[in-house]
Amino acid sequence: MINFEYHVPTKIYFGPDEFSHLGKEVASYGKRVLLTYGGGSIKKTGLYKKVLEQLAQFDLQVTELSDIDPNPRIESVREGGELCKKHNIDVVLAVGGGSVIDCSKFICAAACSDIDPWEWFTPTRPKVTKALPLLTVLTLAATGSEMDAGAVITNLATNEKIGRAFPQLLPKVSFLDPTNTFTVSPFQTAAGSADIISHTLEAYFSQDKDLFFLDTFMEGLLRTVIKFAPRAMNKGDDYEARANLMWASTWAINGFVNGGKTQAWSVHPIEHEVSAYYDITHGLGLAILTPHWMRHVLAKDQEHTLPKFVQFAEQVFGITSQELSDLDKALAGIDALQTFFVNDLQLAPSLSKLAIDTTHFDAMAKHAAGQAGVIHGFIDLYPEDIREIYQASL
Ligand code: NZQ
Ligand code: ZN
Repeated sequence: MINFEYHVPTKIYFGPDEFSHLGKEVASYGKRVLLTYGGGSIKKTGLYKKVLEQLAQFDLQVTELSDIDPNPRIESVREGGELCKKHNIDVVLAVGGGSVIDCSKFICAAACSDIDPWEWFTPTRPKVTKALPLLTVLTLAATGSEMDAGAVITNLATNEKIGRAFPQLLPKVSFLDPTNTFTVSPFQTAAGSADIISHTLEAYFSQDKDLFFLDTFMEGLLRTVIKFAPRAMNKGDDYEARANLMWASTWAINGFVNGGKTQAWSVHPIEHEVSAYYDITHGLGLAILTPHWMRHVLAKDQEHTLPKFVQFAEQVFGITSQELSDLDKALAGIDALQTFFVNDLQLAPSLSKLAIDTTHFDAMAKHAAGQAGVIHGFIDLYPEDIREIYQASL
């Protein structure tokens, strides 16, 4: 029987006309604002100026933290936490993609705590109990960080990239204006789209009893990304394509599709190791690994995985030919996904294309399996399984 609680109180403003509410919303949380952003894309696009104009209308005092890296570093979290304490910050406003928003979530926590922020990512797992309010202006459709409680932080010194989620980190308000994603490059659009697909698949492929309603919702999400990602890559200012990708990215990971599911995610922990060692773009890593994870779990436990792979092939890629066996259909569905990633999204087909070799595979596989030594995902994955998936992805 399916049981779950669902409560995501993030307020969403969607569309260009809603941006005018930004100043008022930020001001409702306090006077002193930490504005966080990345390597400068928001200055090039003019968004930075528009944000400052909104904040000026309410005489807000603005402190800035810029240069938050993709795969955001623990050092930026520390720096942001210190700035908040020094300037008595009331509210954090993150303007950017998932990296800026993730980093800002733990800045909000660091502002209210005396522990070193990396402690939250160590095996002792202290809880975040308090955080400053966070508002976001999203500029890239991918991670869903704008409406989820999670954040992934990288420690390059220890080759670790670790995600944690706490309800205190959920953004209070997020501004989703598809026009702010018009300037996202074709590559980042593709990688972000692969990320949305992966978030959906992590929930879709499950041994839990599924709700038919949620399965059809996820199949719709997948078809939406498959339809609109190539369009957004070809024509950056295609509003319909950008809007569909943006709202799909939010709903793929805001908890809705997980209703009642108990299994852990599989491909994400496997990918986070690749990003941690090689600092690659998250969505690109997922696109390379996902088809190989699929083939591995199908081969390892056909009895429990085949029906869902057949459903995936039929409902997402329309592979319904009566002449195909179930196994052939399942494999054709996996091939179709890989072809979409490589041909339509123009993403690299293998780890070796990113100059990655086998050097760290053993350590990565062991770490991906976590302290328990196993990922309890669609099927259980042990370090030897994960190593085989890396090897197949080379
Ligand atoms: O830094 P700037 O100059 O802003 O440039 C960024 C960055 O170089 C650029 N960009 C963003 N918006 C743009 C733009 N360029 C032009 N026009 C715009 N409108 O894109 C580059 C990548 O940005 P980033 O924020 O790193 O991308 P993304 O949104 O894909 O975030 C990836 C991070 O989120 C984590 C990933 O692991 C990775 O660290 N994730 C977070 C999750 C969550 N919070 O729930 C879940 C995900 O699975 C994921 O793990
Ligand atoms: Zn992801």
